[in-house]
Amino acid sequence: MSDDNSSLAELQQQAKIRQNIVEAITHQFAAEDEGLQRALQAAKQAGLPEIQISPIQGKLLQLLAVACNAQKILEIGSLGGYSGIWLARSLPASGRFITLEINPTHARLVRNSFAQAGVSDRAEVRVGKALDLLPQLQNEAPFDLIFIDADKPPYPQYLEWALRFSRPGSIIVADNCIRSGKAFQKPVDEGMAGIVAYNKRIASDPRLISLVLAMDDDYTDGFAISVVRR
Ligand code: SAH
Ligand code: DHB
Ligand code: MG
Repeated sequence: MSDDNSSLAELQQQAKIRQNIVEAITHQFAAEDEGLQRALQAAKQAGLPEIQISPIQGKLLQLLAVACNAQKILEIGSLGGYSGIWLARSLPASGRFITLEINPTHARLVRNSFAQAGVSDRAEVRVGKALDLLPQLQNEAPFDLIFIDADKPPYPQYLEWALRFSRPGSIIVADNCIRSGKAFQKPVDEGMAGIVAYNKRIASDPRLISLVLAMDDDYTDGFAISVVRR
């Protein structure tokens, strides 16, 4: 009993340490500006699920965009525009950000939040099912960075489009590629099947160098990051 109590206390202390680390990194490196805060607030008010990326993930997207000198960025899955604002802010004024969103209510909110954040000059939302919209994007390619964060079953198909729309040095990022470890096990549903297959493909595709990084939800979820080899 006392053993159980002390190990429980230890686990709680370790969880607290992880939480403090995330808060310190967020505070020092990934503080949200007013545009981001307003986008979050508007999404919450409209009753959207709170499944946007974390500030640390937003800053990592910006860092990756700058690393590949991104002028054109594609996102699949906009929600309330939170990740979109991080990404659009990484672009030069002449840059272009396109995000695909199936839900027209989400898309309306996104447009509003992009305007509030002052990125409407470079950021555009396209409404529809991503797999229907992607074939229409050929003329805008190549994209320097592609961020995949929509429905999970078609993740492998989104990867195929991302590869088609990339150039040597492009960076492909996908969210939710750990899922408490389920992303590396025998899939329990369609969504996990998509993510498991995605991880297998990016790990073995000779055109890519890839890594999955734990960074979100108490280090139980995170990005898969792939660079298209030069
Ligand atoms: N990237 C966002 C979170 C996206 S949540 C952020 O971090 O701020 C996933 C979004 O994908 C939801 O808004 C959902 O409506 C959208 N979505 C789901 N299925 C889709 C599909 N087939 N095509 C396009 N968007 C889709
Ligand atoms: C869900 C989707 C996401 O993209 C995410 O980051 C977290 C949760 C979901 O559909 O539950
Ligand atoms: Mg996600």
